[in-house]
Amino acid sequence: MLRLSALNPLTRSAPTAQVATALLRFNSTMNAPAYTMIKTEVQGRVAVITLDRPKALNALCSELFYEINDALSRYDNDTNVGAVVLTGSERAFAAGADIKEMKNAEFVNNYKTNFLGHWVEQISKMRKPIIAAVNGYALGGGCELAMMCDIIYAGEKAVFGQPEINLGTIPGAGGTQRLTHAVGKSKAMEMILTGSVNLDAQEAMAYGLVSKVFPPEKLLEETIKTAAKIASKGAVSVQMAKEAVNQAYELGLTSGLHFERRLFQATFATKDQKEGMAAFAEKRKPDFVHE
Ligand code: CAA
Repeated sequence: MLRLSALNPLTRSAPTAQVATALLRFNSTMNAPAYTMIKTEVQGRVAVITLDRPKALNALCSELFYEINDALSRYDNDTNVGAVVLTGSERAFAAGADIKEMKNAEFVNNYKTNFLGHWVEQISKMRKPIIAAVNGYALGGGCELAMMCDIIYAGEKAVFGQPEINLGTIPGAGGTQRLTHAVGKSKAMEMILTGSVNLDAQEAMAYGLVSKVFPPEKLLEETIKTAAKIASKGAVSVQMAKEAVNQAYELGLTSGLHFERRLFQATFATKDQKEGMAAFAEKRKPDFVHE
């Protein structure tokens, strides 16, 4: 089995993006590879990906990200999976990009390999919903990774922050954009420019970054419950709803409403719309077939 580390853009000068894409396609057709930095399991129609690099507080090195992307790609293509949960440990969701790995990186290689570009590509392409279950530190790239997900649930001791300025750099995986959308300009500026104003779980919920807070030991269980609820709905309408909500970030209101209405109309071509509405009229639970 080819180790995913063979694709590390910081250690290889080969054109890694094409190789990585080919590998992801190749992997999605076979059994899960032996991951070294994540754990994966499927419970019913919910896939759970657990970041498992405890000694480095789940710092996001290239290999860890390739494994996350590989698993996400696999689950996005698996018709038995309806939603994905991404989580870390009780101490850290992820403490950011791996500072030790990238400290000697140079601009030219960053540019040529589109460093960090590969992080966001797979998550942004995911058609199925992903929920982040965040306990402990979600700093820098860890906060950005959580914000790439569709819903964030937090444990009571979660800490969200963008401390990159303390390292002489800035957020590079969406922090300046997604955090600003989530918490507004003033708070985002305060967090990103000082590098020391963090949000605890309750503050993150008050700002709308997080939608629910749980005791740490209950977080994963509750997140999986929500993921299972989503995965029990018709998969086509779930994906269309996700697509439509995401367009709210890209389009003006008139175009967004047009996009939404077209998808709404299209749901009437699915078996699940017929089943869902028939079940309501017949006062029974719908039995969705995800078609
Ligand atoms: N990269 C590499 N290693 C990291 C790391 C990171 N982001 N965060 C923690 N670690 C490592 C530490 O070096 C330490 O390793 P050793 O035991 O080998 O020394 C181990 O994880 C445990 O960390 P600490 O001893 O520091 O634990 P702590 O409880 O005292 O502090 C912490 C926890 C506050 C999270 C602290 O580790 C910290 O500040 N980490 C860095 C956070 C950060 O700056 N993140 C942003 C990274 S840049 C980025 O993410 C760019 C981007 O936008 C993509």
